[in-house]
Amino acid sequence: MSNELAARTPKVTAVSLREKKSNRQPITSLTAYDFTSARLVDEAGIDIILVGDSLAQVMLGYENTLPVTMEEMLHHTRAVRRGVRRALLVADMPYSSYHITCKEALINASRFVKEAGAEAVKIEGGSKRYELIRKVVDAEIPVMGHIGLMPQSVHVMGGYKVQGQTLESAEQLMKDATALEHAGVFALVLEGIPREVAAMITAEVGVPTIGIGAGPECDGQVLVLHDLLGMSFTPPAKFVRAYAQVGGVIRQAVEAYKRDVEAGEYPNDAESYHLPRDTAAALGQIRERKNVLELKRR
Ligand code: KIV
Repeated sequence: MSNELAARTPKVTAVSLREKKSNRQPITSLTAYDFTSARLVDEAGIDIILVGDSLAQVMLGYENTLPVTMEEMLHHTRAVRRGVRRALLVADMPYSSYHITCKEALINASRFVKEAGAEAVKIEGGSKRYELIRKVVDAEIPVMGHIGLMPQSVHVMGGYKVQGQTLESAEQLMKDATALEHAGVFALVLEGIPREVAAMITAEVGVPTIGIGAGPECDGQVLVLHDLLGMSFTPPAKFVRAYAQVGGVIRQAVEAYKRDVEAGEYPNDAESYHLPRDTAAALGQIRERKNVLELKRR
């Protein structure tokens, strides 16, 4: 979708996404963490742009999502805001920004809206987040839920493991999904769960489900942009489809630049600025006079 076309296509809202579910139109979502990538993703017509806390790993080089701070998330959300016109902009609430007190959670959620221009926030966790999510929604902030494999719970889960593989845990996921729907989420991320369980949840809840490693029956899909572009340094998860190898393209371009500079082939004359003709002529005359004086001195 061109920039112009994107500008003419109706703005995606938390409400319009529900219509997409009713009309069985798949919802598209990707992460973005800066102005340039956000603008490209928005112009491509993606429905939801998520400033994921995965930026801890992808942008900041941390081992997991836990260290990323509110200030870092706000900084990246502001940059993304400047690049997005049509997509719904969702900011991920980072670890410990909503785990301590409800008051702090409300303050932090509202900072994303007020200071960074987010249109919704995402909160990880099932039924136990019911009260909190209700309060955030009451504060006029749309909330996207996130259940299944929750990266902020990596230590509790004992690693990044597919969730909902037993009858009991699949049932718990279903309870979590319906509790979050009742709490007022406008959409629900289902991460790292069996396709069959995601399909049951999707059929059960009225809000759109957005899957990542949760099979094709979800109402929409989300991926980390850098995984889709082939720009990650870790081996991709089973569900990742890399649509390009941008990492390789960047490396080749940088190596070619290095070769050219080292060989004196960059920049060439066409890539250089030149003096205006009369200034060049005046400079020539000065040089000539200097040469004459030099010869006389010898
Ligand atoms: O942080 C993130 O990128 C996410 C998703 C990919 C859902 O939470």
